[in-house]
Amino acid sequence: MSQVSEFVVVANRLPVDRVPGTANGGTNGEGAAWRRSPGGLVSAIAPVMRRREGTWVGWHGAPDEVLEPFETDGMKLVPVPQSSEDVELYYEGFSNATLWPLYHDVVAPPVYSREMWDAYVKVNERFAQAAAKVAAKGAIVWIQDYQLQLVPSMLRRLRPDVRIGFFLHIPFPPLELFWQLPWRRRILEGLLGADLVGFQLPGAANNFVRLCRRLLDARYNKQDLFWEDRVVRARSFPISVDVGELEDLVAQPHVQERVDEIRNDVGGATILLGVDRLDYTKGITQRLEAFGELFRDGHLKPGQAAFIQIATPSRERVEQYQLLRDQIEQQVGRINGEYGEIGYPVVNYMHTSHTRDELAALYLAADVMVVTPLRDGMNLVAKEYVACRADLRGALVLSEFAGAAAELRRAYQVNPYDIDGLKETLLAAMHAEPAEQARRMRAMRKRVIEHDVDRWAREFLSSLEQQA
Ligand code: ADP
Ligand code: F6P
Repeated sequence: MSQVSEFVVVANRLPVDRVPGTANGGTNGEGAAWRRSPGGLVSAIAPVMRRREGTWVGWHGAPDEVLEPFETDGMKLVPVPQSSEDVELYYEGFSNATLWPLYHDVVAPPVYSREMWDAYVKVNERFAQAAAKVAAKGAIVWIQDYQLQLVPSMLRRLRPDVRIGFFLHIPFPPLELFWQLPWRRRILEGLLGADLVGFQLPGAANNFVRLCRRLLDARYNKQDLFWEDRVVRARSFPISVDVGELEDLVAQPHVQERVDEIRNDVGGATILLGVDRLDYTKGITQRLEAFGELFRDGHLKPGQAAFIQIATPSRERVEQYQLLRDQIEQQVGRINGEYGEIGYPVVNYMHTSHTRDELAALYLAADVMVVTPLRDGMNLVAKEYVACRADLRGALVLSEFAGAAAELRRAYQVNPYDIDGLKETLLAAMHAEPAEQARRMRAMRKRVIEHDVDRWAREFLSSLEQQA
């Protein structure tokens, strides 16, 4: 593997995780078994990386293990180690118990711990060092997401020659919420090390500029900030999906066969589908509550409609995630106990990860896709559903609080906190005539096809490259 690269992606996770319990194959990663890492970031960046000959710097998902760089699936990977303590304090702690809830409208209470902050600084420094080592002179370095917000300024200190882009995949909170963070100035200064700071939506970029003005007294002109004799641009680039990959998948005969199997398995019931990481921002309990009430109120009968909820295990050692899992499992048990009949469970719940083929089959089998986050940077599941529905069938129920709602205007948009509104919207989506489904789907597909992930990456990177 060549020593340095002209294009470097830095993200908390590599696109693959080591499968626990498999042989670690020494330090070169080759004997180990790998699987795709969870979440939208990997879904979006992996196809871009395959097209550019870059290097991806990130954690390989196994604590206390040091691996040498290796290659997989056409990508050069540089593993950054994390000790068990780093995982607890930096990843589960500051990233996912502090920043994640704070940036998602404080839907769970953020933990403010100095020990976690210290670990965040230390691990960010380690990522910056690893990126500095692998970047060629004048390279483009693209840093991803909230786990690494200090890396831009740390890397600039180490390597002033490289061009630095940063993209935040999750929402960026308004001043009134961000103000809570004891280390608020340090985070902003960290991000200002980049030449281009990208957000999902224009509102997030505005929040960032406003905060830099108020907290750091930074000079600005519209969305350009003047900082330490440099211009730092804040811009929005709504992320998207690999439409070509999904269209190829749904055309496969084995995927089509699987669609028929799924439909048979639910006995011809109308299928509502949820696909999420098991996360409290995703509004899973709200959608199940609404669905259960439709049975309670007599709008639906067992056998008429079935909800398939796939929830990928996520951040399982963080307390809020454990509480949510218990809550959802109790709720599913209660709904099935009250309304299910032999052979007709009303909710089919799976706490597992699925292959892309299986997901594509589920998207095609679903009459109604239910995406109800309480807050979400974008939500790629909504766009994946649209990308798969070349048949122009199916209906998308989409939270107003997902970034995707700004683009998918013809979805059945809903406020997930409003359970009555959610019930009405689910019924409307279930009863939509094929012509109405097609009208809405056509408009949404136009948007997603014209703005796919390749365009997202091209627009971000050409904006970064053009910067003087
Ligand atoms: P987030 O980044 O918060 O996880 P997104 O909806 O933006 O949310 O992205 C989730 C990604 O993870 C999508 O590409 C989706 O297909 C994938 N995904 C979600 N749930 C599963 C699952 N159970 N099995 C496999 N992939 C999943
Ligand atoms: O897209 C948001 C995000 O937090 C990514 O940064 C992350 O890779 C993904 O979701 C999955 O989360 P985690 O890496 O914590 O499993």
